Amino acid sequence: MSELPRVVVSVVAGVDGRVALSRGERLLDADVDRRWRSGWPADVEELVGASSAAVEKRYRPTVVLEGSGTFVGDDAPPVAFDGDGTAAEVLLADHLPKRTPRWFVVVDGRGRVDWSYFGDADTSLLVLVCTATPLPYLRRLRRDGIPYLVAGEARVDLRTALVRLREVLGADCVVSHAGGGLNGALLRAGLVDEVHVVTVPMLVGGLGTPSVADGPPLPVGGAPVRLRTVNVTVGAQGSVWAHYEVVDARG
Ligand SMILES: NC(=O)c1ccc[n+]([C@@H]2O[C@H](COP(=O)([O-])OP(=O)(O)OC[C@H]3O[C@@H](n4cnc5c(N)ncnc54)[C@H](OP(=O)(O)O)[C@@H]3O)[C@@H](O)[C@H]2O)c1
Repeated sequence: MSELPRVVVSVVAGVDGRVALSRGERLLDADVDRRWRSGWPADVEELVGASSAAVEKRYRPTVVLEGSGTFVGDDAPPVAFDGDGTAAEVLLADHLPKRTPRWFVVVDGRGRVDWSYFGDADTSLLVLVCTATPLPYLRRLRRDGIPYLVAGEARVDLRTALVRLREVLGADCVVSHAGGGLNGALLRAGLVDEVHVVTVPMLVGGLGTPSVADGPPLPVGGAPVRLRTVNVTVGAQGSVWAHYEVVDARG
């Protein structure tokens, strides 16, 4: 059995693959979300629900993965915190003060998300950090009782992080609801197993607008990751839920 959990990427995109309106706006903002959804025909919600239900039924995933870009802009600084003088060697050890059946896991190696949501009795927030994460941020996570795992040095090592999620949390399946930055990095690292895209008949456009998979371009001479189409469902208004499996072996 693989030491990695299955990684399922699940996104809603325009026909041009854009998953947001622009680099500077996040769908978490109610006004941005309203404008994003203003392009949605009535069948989108149903297809999104059907896609989530299919993944839930098949894998019973216990971890949802997000990137920091869902919460803060590219230029957001690290969270400042004076806190106590807890030693670096203590701070740079995993912190797991609680356990819940499900986890909402966010990659935040630069320590930039100032959390106001911590989860509930069923689902806990857990942050993936690395040894370069600013120590004041780790102090802040500890003060707030927010679990974190340390994976990687200069930035979060996604492969190590996934192995740890399986080892420490028992996660057999991780569903990524991230934007293009994190999904692109997962793709480049050969860590994606399955993709669900609900394509909405709308166009956003714009060079640099987040897409299904961003991150570094393919190296010269590189080839695309091949997918096998598992199923395609067309909604009453022509939106499309497509379910793919990655054909190429993991990198
Ligand atoms: N339509 C949808 O389904 C959907 C879903 C989610 C988000 N969105 C939208 O998409 C936008 C955000 O997309 P985004 O691309 O800016 O953000 P993102 O997907 O969150 O990408 C940035 C994240 O990826 C991590 N990352 C990138 N490269 C990495 C690497 N090589 N190794 C390790 N970690 C790496 C970053 O880590 P660090 O923080 O450690 O640097 C950060 O957590 C927002 O507008 C959001 O509203 C849309």
